[in-house]
Amino acid sequence: MSEVVTDPRTELAERIARLKQQRKAVILAHNYQLGEVQDIADFVGDSLELSRRATQVEADVIVFCGVMFMAETAKLLNPQRTVLIPDPLAGCPMCEMAPVEAVRKRKAELPGVTVVAYVNTTAAVKAEADICCTSANAVKIVNSLPDKRILFLPDKHLGHWVQRHTDKEIILWDGYCPTHQKITVRDVQRLKEEHPKATVIVHPECTADVIDLADEVLSTGQMLRWARESDAREVIVGTEVGIIHRLKQENPDKTFYPISFLSTCPNMKRITLEKVAWALEDMQYEVTVPAEVADKARRAIEKMLEVG
Ligand code: 13P
Ligand code: SF4
Repeated sequence: MSEVVTDPRTELAERIARLKQQRKAVILAHNYQLGEVQDIADFVGDSLELSRRATQVEADVIVFCGVMFMAETAKLLNPQRTVLIPDPLAGCPMCEMAPVEAVRKRKAELPGVTVVAYVNTTAAVKAEADICCTSANAVKIVNSLPDKRILFLPDKHLGHWVQRHTDKEIILWDGYCPTHQKITVRDVQRLKEEHPKATVIVHPECTADVIDLADEVLSTGQMLRWARESDAREVIVGTEVGIIHRLKQENPDKTFYPISFLSTCPNMKRITLEKVAWALEDMQYEVTVPAEVADKARRAIEKMLEVG
């Protein structure tokens, strides 16, 4: 009689499911997570969807599979719950491009300026902002403000995209996403030549010359919705490659071509199934936000959620 061998990944997923029940935990994951991590999550989404979801959590523990600023946002919106990140080194280099001291200095140079902080910022920088935004609502947030002059932190490419859709003055910060910067015009042109019938969708963190070649500019959540609703059979995708997992899963009859396999976010990929299991076993690593910035940072996120 042959022995039944269980796939070790399946065993690990089952262990996580048992631990999740024991700890009364919920697992939230970003669209860039490894496919196997997305598959064990209770909810997968973009930054805005994850923030909204975090306000509805009733579980005792949130295991956040994403990068630190996202886990911090979940903690800010759920101060009474335990928020765990499976790898505390999963940072976002774009956040580090806007240190709080430099932001305070710039604000002092621009008296009366309104500060819009992309959620890809530290909690200390959010506390300096009038309101937050994500890639899904940046244009809407900026246009909702009564003020004419906006200091937009920290992504210059997203800020430039917003500038194209508002008559306000957008003062840019010199930040960017190293992962999206790796998507080049040459890559897009080559793929368009190879797949002339395909539609090009890109994330607004891409450079302006890449955006100029796109048919649609969308957050990761908007890309998923667009792919479900569109008639396009072939799609060229300009964002972090993790999105391809859900795009394929939800649209098995359509073909998706990532513009570049170089656009992999090493920080997002730090979270693995093993680390999720260890997080639940050892209740690590707990995400905390310094008390002196938490209230102000929460207010900036809540204001964003009120606008939509
Ligand atoms: P989304 O909010 O579109 O998911 O983007 C988050 C992010 O970090 C993009 O690099
Ligand atoms: Fe940060 Fe870019 Fe990674 Fe998003 S993809 S988490 S912006 S480094």
